[in-house]
Amino acid sequence: MCWTLLAMFIIDRYFSRHMIQRPRGTRDFGPEEMEVRKHFEEIMCQEALLHGFREIYTPIFEHTELFTLKSGPGVVEEIYAFQDKGGREICLRPELTASVMRFFLGDLTNLPRPLKMFYFGQCFRYERPQAGRYREFFQFGAEVIGNPTPETDAEVIGLAAAILERTGLKDYRIRVGHIGILREMLAEAGVQGDAALPILQKLDKKAYPEAEELMVQAGMSSDAIHQIVEVTKVTGPVSILDSREGPAADYIRQVCEILLSMGFSNLSVDLGVVRGLAYYTGMVFEVDAPKLGAEKQICGGGSYSLSELFGGEKVFSTGFAIGFDRTLLALQTEGVEFVPPGVTAYVVPVSDSVRTKGFEVVSMLRRAGISADIDIMRRGVGKSLKHAASLKARYSVIIGEKELESESVTLRNMSSGEQSLVKMDELVARFKE
Ligand code: HAM
Repeated sequence: MCWTLLAMFIIDRYFSRHMIQRPRGTRDFGPEEMEVRKHFEEIMCQEALLHGFREIYTPIFEHTELFTLKSGPGVVEEIYAFQDKGGREICLRPELTASVMRFFLGDLTNLPRPLKMFYFGQCFRYERPQAGRYREFFQFGAEVIGNPTPETDAEVIGLAAAILERTGLKDYRIRVGHIGILREMLAEAGVQGDAALPILQKLDKKAYPEAEELMVQAGMSSDAIHQIVEVTKVTGPVSILDSREGPAADYIRQVCEILLSMGFSNLSVDLGVVRGLAYYTGMVFEVDAPKLGAEKQICGGGSYSLSELFGGEKVFSTGFAIGFDRTLLALQTEGVEFVPPGVTAYVVPVSDSVRTKGFEVVSMLRRAGISADIDIMRRGVGKSLKHAASLKARYSVIIGEKELESESVTLRNMSSGEQSLVKMDELVARFKE
């Protein structure tokens, strides 16, 4: 008996002290943080709409095959993959580009092109969490399905740049490259198609010794290896391309010229942009916010080819994804603030007899599009006004029996403390002023 009681005591202590924690690499967002997040999400969506892009939505989980088809089975180690109750191989999406292409091939091929789409949503990657690197994070992305032209690619990079500009971010740099240059060089050295992927992934991480080892294993000459490593180190202003010939250099020169004419000058050429994902085929670009340190890449994208892999016709696509969380961190480090506006009006019924009247008033204001809240805790006037101040309400609408006799309420300016009597039927107009 004594042991049972002891065991129950221990279990009780254990569970009361070990609150269930959220999974590693995930975050909760409180009301204030959500207001800031929603504000910047809205800015991004509005900018995309301004550029003629339209929003789409795809599911958070997909068949795992969607991601292993291009990247190989090894990618399962990096994602949240599992079998559902029906035995299907399912995973939480690590990104949205493959989902968009699946959606396009299944349902959207008849839409007029270019098809300019954008999305916002969470992605999941089985990463080692650290500052700016999470297991659940959010991307704002866009994809254009159309023609292989420098105009298309410039329009895509231009949208990413315009969004970042619109958020108020100042310190960021766009680096444009062309994966075709390295792919061609590898192909000439005998490393064709997907066989080049492991090498490109090492070059993407600037892991040169490992990349060189893979190139040696692939039978490449030391001269070819040296040339490839040298190309990844070519960075500088657009004029750095003047000494380079060939269609890829020509192509990114045109993309950059259009971007410069659009007014985006924080632009450089970087032939070392390789991108970690397997599907890129042409222009590739990344955006860094240097103040973020190790996880400074806030956006990445490029032109790619996935449709034929998913059983469709070959179509040309270009897209990007902005790391929403990292962009917010970058804005924070630059001191770009968004102070959420509080409610416009906080309704304070002075006594029980006027509480229903209070709801009549608060509904009238809400119907008129004025944000309004009301005391539901049955607090006294003093405490209600304190609560209104904590909500950053701009005005309090105090409803008392005496005021009601003249069909009026007392309107209190919460910052100046000024009060005035306002007729109930003039209240909405007063706020609209
Ligand atoms: P990505 O470079 O893998 O590209 O991801 C885009 C952005 O998402 C990164 O630049 C980074 O800011 C953010 N990000 C990635 N992983 C994490 C993480 N673990 N925690 C926080 N942020 C992260 C793509 O996903 C491609 N789908 C982009 C694209 C669209 N390419 C063509 N179309």
